[in-house]
Amino acid sequence: MLDSLNNHLNEEVYSSYLYLSIASYFEEKNLKGFGQWFKIQSQEEYGHAMKFYGFINQTGGKVNLKAIAAPKTNWKSIMEVFKETLAHEKHITELINKLVGQAMLEKNYATNNFLQWFVTEQVEEEANVEEIINKLEMIGDNKGGLYMLDRELGARTAG
Ligand code: FEO
Repeated sequence: MLDSLNNHLNEEVYSSYLYLSIASYFEEKNLKGFGQWFKIQSQEEYGHAMKFYGFINQTGGKVNLKAIAAPKTNWKSIMEVFKETLAHEKHITELINKLVGQAMLEKNYATNNFLQWFVTEQVEEEANVEEIINKLEMIGDNKGGLYMLDRELGARTAG
């Protein structure tokens, strides 16, 4: 179980790194609101990694940090960014579900309980990204709509 938790810690750090890469992609394109949204998302992912860090330490395990893969740096469109973000979140959901399965199999109740927060969080994460994809579909090529969405996403604050 400890190995799996350490592997997942790395996945969350990678998520943070990926979203920071997306933030800088948007900032460079002067879409500051989109950039802000992903910067906050990146911070949240770091927070997720730190929850694993805390739990591993609390339960007497040793955190083993591994190499972080280099994230992608360029995308074809805003829609592509969000489609890939949704795919990434679905991948993380699958990993969380596998961890829950393992904890249940090993009758590791404390780990199962710890993971439940992430089960709920993943539902929210996927829904948030899907909502933005729906808005982007409505906006289409409308520059005014894009400007409004950039302002809306830029209002996101931590927590
Ligand atoms: Fe930490 Fe976006 O899942």
